[in-house]
Amino acid sequence: MTQALRVLAIGASSGILTHCLRQRVQGQVVHGVLVGRDSRKLQQIADDLRVRSPESSWRIETVDFEDANAIQTLIDSVGVIDLAYVAHGALIEQSECEQDLTRTRASLAINALSPALFCEAIAHRLEQQGQGQLVIFGSVAGDRGRRSNYVYGASKGLLARYAQGLQHRFAATAIRITLVKPGPTATAMTAHLATSTRLAPVDKVAACIEKGVRAGRPVVYAPPLWALIMLVIMHLPRFVFNRMKI
Ligand SMILES: NC(=O)c1ccc[n+]([C@@H]2O[C@H](COP(=O)([O-])OP(=O)(O)OC[C@H]3O[C@@H](n4cnc5c(N)ncnc54)[C@H](OP(=O)(O)O)[C@@H]3O)[C@@H](O)[C@H]2O)c1
Repeated sequence: MTQALRVLAIGASSGILTHCLRQRVQGQVVHGVLVGRDSRKLQQIADDLRVRSPESSWRIETVDFEDANAIQTLIDSVGVIDLAYVAHGALIEQSECEQDLTRTRASLAINALSPALFCEAIAHRLEQQGQGQLVIFGSVAGDRGRRSNYVYGASKGLLARYAQGLQHRFAATAIRITLVKPGPTATAMTAHLATSTRLAPVDKVAACIEKGVRAGRPVVYAPPLWALIMLVIMHLPRFVFNRMKI
């Protein structure tokens, strides 16, 4: 058994992240902090992880995800971070955003601004430590703006550019920044989608993410086939792309 890993999980009640943590505690002792907005949900996740790894320990923290000062105070209060995940996000319907600017603002706030605030505070901590890894949850939706979800996609696109900047900043150091881009995955976030939407099983997506994170890869598509799909979509000429109903 290797040395205990100190993990910080932001948006710890995320279905994908919960499965990443379950896989992480297999054969690895973790001392972690679970951060979310609902302590009851976090407690259930901590209990589940304790059953899977009795040697591991979990602290629970709730915070206002849009309050920069509260985020800074929270990150200041956690100890050394070996591995941090920033996973929270909400799939607010594009049609809602088009009709109600408060929904547009909510989408940009929770999918772009809030994760960037957490990441900035964590990056500063990793810089002080001189080591550690930050895993940022983007999406394939961030690769090219599409009519069906461009407010959400633009938020994830911001995170992609943000992660790129952090990777540049820490290129000559032992600090690793990993941007993960899941494709459509069966979690609470997608439960309302039409059954015609093909969703990858969450444990499979989490396994792809964990493999890429352990390898320290800068970008991880999960499942990997999405790298190819998005390569094609990104390179479609505009006159073809604009005719597609996607
Ligand atoms: N599922 C997919 O198809 C898919 C595809 C691509 C990318 N992603 C990204 O992967 C990440 C994890 O998604 P998931 O599928 O695991 O989703 P999920 O199970 O629905 O989890 C979403 C997480 O975000 C938190 N959250 C949502 N709105 C919040 C708010 N206003 N304030 C604070 N926390 C909030 C939720 O907290 P509560 O539990 O308290 O609600 C939960 O922890 C997200 O960043 C998502 O955008 C997902």
